[in-house]
Amino acid sequence: MSSISKNVIRFFKLAGINKRKDVEFFWKNIEKQFGNLGRSFREAIAARSDGQAVNPYEVRDASLELSLAVYSQYEADFASGLMSWIEEVEIEVPKRVLDIGCGNGVIACFMANLWPDTHVTGIDTSLNSIRCAEELARKLKLGNVKFEFGNAKDYFAKYNQSDIDMVLTSKVLQEVFTEEVGGFDLACPEDAFDTYEEIERLPELSANLIEFLNGVKAVLSDNGKYISVDRCGIPAAYVFLCRHFKEAGLGLIPARCEKIVGEDVGGYKESFPLSFLKKTPLAAEPSTEIIISLHKKMLLSEKLECINPVDGFVAEALYLAIGDKRPVHEAELIYRNGSGIMKMHLFHSEILAGVYKTTSRGMRQLEIVPLAEASAVVDAYFNEISKLSEYCDINENVSLDSSLLNQLGLEVVQSKA
Ligand SMILES: C[S@@+](CC[C@H](N)C(=O)[O-])C[C@H]1O[C@@H](n2cnc3c(N)ncnc32)[C@H](O)[C@@H]1O
Repeated sequence: MSSISKNVIRFFKLAGINKRKDVEFFWKNIEKQFGNLGRSFREAIAARSDGQAVNPYEVRDASLELSLAVYSQYEADFASGLMSWIEEVEIEVPKRVLDIGCGNGVIACFMANLWPDTHVTGIDTSLNSIRCAEELARKLKLGNVKFEFGNAKDYFAKYNQSDIDMVLTSKVLQEVFTEEVGGFDLACPEDAFDTYEEIERLPELSANLIEFLNGVKAVLSDNGKYISVDRCGIPAAYVFLCRHFKEAGLGLIPARCEKIVGEDVGGYKESFPLSFLKKTPLAAEPSTEIIISLHKKMLLSEKLECINPVDGFVAEALYLAIGDKRPVHEAELIYRNGSGIMKMHLFHSEILAGVYKTTSRGMRQLEIVPLAEASAVVDAYFNEISKLSEYCDINENVSLDSSLLNQLGLEVVQSKA
């Protein structure tokens, strides 16, 4: 992903999206600047942190100024990444775009501004957000964008045409997962799911998501694209999502997938997988080739990335998605200073070799390479175990399939545990 384009900077200026403020200054000023509205927003954030079913966007979007102030602080970093991607993506300029869950309309307005001959529609279940988005479009003097209040499901039923060239969901699907009859529903908190198996056991999540994705597919033109930039903040959610894309008949094009990184005010970076999908499904996916390709694209094995738990989730998701893993070696490393346990797993499949590491503190790291390049990974794996033996007690399981090592003319190295 290249850096923020001049176009995005210009758009931010026009819209009134400013530089992020110091966090303490921001919160102190929110009440001073916006009075009761600022206080309500602060309370909504606190209530949501306590698990109450409050939609803070509804409160934020009661005023365009408040909405943009909060957006500048919390969303602009992510938005600039997404907008830069939209600007650079090599697609035919779409005639019709639908932004589902458009919120305050910033991204829809960016697209309308970027593509003056395109008709952009934004829909949202929050009336305040729709009013806010309309005000923003007026401020930007955009005649090619409109906003409609309503639920995606109702919109799909009513629209009944297949002529939209691009559908976008940005940070929306996590709400569709937990949606009951179409509202914002936090009754099913994200942290209710810790593993892929748990997600799979919740059929209502699948049913909601499939219904939603079928709706997306139905409104897309034959050559239409669906761009999902949705939070996968639960373990293995990305595999769950990819499976449902496939089930709904939407074909993932891995070479065009990306990740959009947003940094919040606390400096915490969160990655959102951007999935590029077309209306027709691909023959077989997710295949191992596709997983390798996604993995490379998303640079999941970069050392610094692996300490970010969200990337870790994606690593876990991809690890789970490799269906034909054959174990070569496993080691459990127990740190003598009490700082936890690391598990390392060296495995291979027909075409790839990989190392998957997890720690009791939640780190997940996956490194996969084509089988022909396995020797470097194998060497690094055993070197790491050997080095860690200075600090760790090690339980090893070497009585596993070592055909990979034999194939490569390497030996299983038993460390001095
Ligand atoms: C996290 S916000 C994201 C807003 C915007 N897409 C962005 O990236 O800034 C999610 C939005 O989705 C809306 N939403 C949730 N469920 C929806 C549904 N079923 N149909 C339409 N909008 C929905 C919410 O009201 C909220 O404005």
